[in-house]
Amino acid sequence: MDRKDIINDPEYGNKAEAFEAFDDIPTNPNLSRTIGDVINARYGRRDLLKGALGVAATTALFGTSAMVAPKQAAAAASASRYKFDELAWGNDEKHHIAEGYNADILLRWGDPITADAPEFDVMNQTVEAQLKQFGYNNDYVGFTALNEEGTRGLLCVNHEYTNEEVMFPGLGRQDRDGFTGMTKELVEIEMAAHGGSVVEIAQGDDGTWALVRDSDYNRRITPFNTEMVMGGPAAGHERMKTNDDPTGTAVIGTINNCAGGMTPWGTYLMAEENFHGYFWTDVVDAEGKPDVSAQPEATSMKRYGVPGGWYAWGKFHDRWNIDKEPNMPNKYGWIVEVDPRNPDAKPIKHTAMGRFRHEGAETTISSSGKLVIYSGDDNRFDYLYKYVSTEDVTEENSVFGSSLMSDGTLYVARFDEDGTVTWMPLVHGEGPLTAENGFNDQGDVMIDTRLAADLLGATPMDRPEDANPGPNGTAYVMLTNNTRRTADQVNAANPRAESAFGHIIEIKEDGEDHAATTGTWSILVKCGDPTIEEVGAQWNPETSESGWFGSPDNCAIDADGRLWISTDQGSNWGKTGKSDGLYSLETAGELRGHSKLFFRCPVGGELCGPYFTPDSETLFLAVQHPGTDGTKDFKGFERDSTFEDPATRWPDFDPAMPPRPSVVVVTKEGGGKIAV
Ligand code: FEO
Ligand code: CA
Ligand code: CA
Ligand code: CA
Repeated sequence: MDRKDIINDPEYGNKAEAFEAFDDIPTNPNLSRTIGDVINARYGRRDLLKGALGVAATTALFGTSAMVAPKQAAAAASASRYKFDELAWGNDEKHHIAEGYNADILLRWGDPITADAPEFDVMNQTVEAQLKQFGYNNDYVGFTALNEEGTRGLLCVNHEYTNEEVMFPGLGRQDRDGFTGMTKELVEIEMAAHGGSVVEIAQGDDGTWALVRDSDYNRRITPFNTEMVMGGPAAGHERMKTNDDPTGTAVIGTINNCAGGMTPWGTYLMAEENFHGYFWTDVVDAEGKPDVSAQPEATSMKRYGVPGGWYAWGKFHDRWNIDKEPNMPNKYGWIVEVDPRNPDAKPIKHTAMGRFRHEGAETTISSSGKLVIYSGDDNRFDYLYKYVSTEDVTEENSVFGSSLMSDGTLYVARFDEDGTVTWMPLVHGEGPLTAENGFNDQGDVMIDTRLAADLLGATPMDRPEDANPGPNGTAYVMLTNNTRRTADQVNAANPRAESAFGHIIEIKEDGEDHAATTGTWSILVKCGDPTIEEVGAQWNPETSESGWFGSPDNCAIDADGRLWISTDQGSNWGKTGKSDGLYSLETAGELRGHSKLFFRCPVGGELCGPYFTPDSETLFLAVQHPGTDGTKDFKGFERDSTFEDPATRWPDFDPAMPPRPSVVVVTKEGGGKIAV
């Protein structure tokens, strides 16, 4: 299936669903491209509802023990390191949190975030208003304190993408019919709703958090008008030069900012994920499909899936049109550093971390003193990366724009069957990364990170999403799913063909040093319903019916070093019947692989964030695209959502308001550390 087929396939009711399908197109040419979608057919929710699978159910990997008896569940709960009563699974129009906790709406799409911002008027949105209002589809959330008590701070939030069919009245989905309804103004509102927000928030005496609207820190970062600079080995490169920037050192804006990270010095990293989707061409082949064969960057474009044609921006702005700006895609797909404390500082795109569909950029300081950043390339059969600074982290270099972020080595992971992981350096002149193979300098290696990693023989993964360093040299890698892997493409670290529910890998770096170039790995859990044998799930047998999940995406480590997982099943939630949510997940001891549900999203929403404040007394969650994904499987609704007719109007439940992506703030009733 290619792009055009996906857009026209009635199966994909909205942009979010089509995005997943686009992700389904592997661009890694090292693989044969078989389509086999057996698991979809076999385990589709509709089949489950019809009982097509019967109840062969009970003989899961752990046999019937996976069907937890209440007594066992109670025993597991008392031994659990996470002290909360598990929430019951389900799926409805609202969000739900475990008993004893508050989950309040902090910021919604359209909320005015500056003193001079107009109030949100969803029927008459403008570019000017959106540039001063909270953006769409909140994804990554980070926090950096402004006072010692941690009761004032800056919240940094990514706005990954926009869903026109639920944002704009009377428009419907636009990518199927050539974007005929899109105007320059609508396109610019979309651009203004992308990017990020930095806002000051403060905690009142009663423990509740609120926006400080008149704070001078508050600002939007957008692909519409935020000037940025390029840094690192690809800055100023010949392939970075464009009509508006003959130096190759500047760029306007950032796009598709998925997850991210906060540096040890409190700056905000925004990962540019599906950047390819924003580029446009008018050059098509005989079948009407985008044709890049005459492009000077053709090889690179093919490997990155450029141009995706997901938005009409290129119809109105030359910089998104590769026919006019063939080098522009090279300026996206990077890690962007923002100084939240200095609104005047231009964000920097750090090219030393490579160019790919960066899911996130989670940082740590290794026991050996280096800055280390883990980042997954979220595409089927793409790779896991790690960046290690050359110098040690010191007080002097712990600053915005630090040389730690430009002088370092990017590694790609190879997972061997014997349980070792080897981090292979992407360094020009080493191994096959030479002019002979098209790499003239380190800039080329960074611009074409994927092509370089192909030559090194990295392990093709099941869509690496978040990768988070944990305590004692550990790292946790979310492999969300990959239904396109065939039985002959299975490898030890990606052990399931047609994996609809994903798995999580735990890495232990040698010497408990995150900068090590070798380590060991193991599978922490294989996700999905443990009561259906064919799913091949692997959980701690104490995991309850509410506790197992599918499609791990983001994760966080709390103040006590404990792991939390948020899920993004996309339109596939019908295969589990569960909405997306936040789960605790034990990593050690007898309960290793034991998961419990803490929070769940309203229907059609994906859970992003999560982010704990340093004292673990506040948890920020981002509910992305509520009411959109998979609503054809939502009992009683069973159709695609539109602005006029959405599956939920969360969080306002106002008949005049569509669903709004929002940040949720979680605190314990009466205060105190979460789940302690
Ligand atoms: Fe934007 Fe890989 O999720
Ligand atoms: Ca994600
Ligand atoms: Ca995802
Ligand atoms: Ca998403």
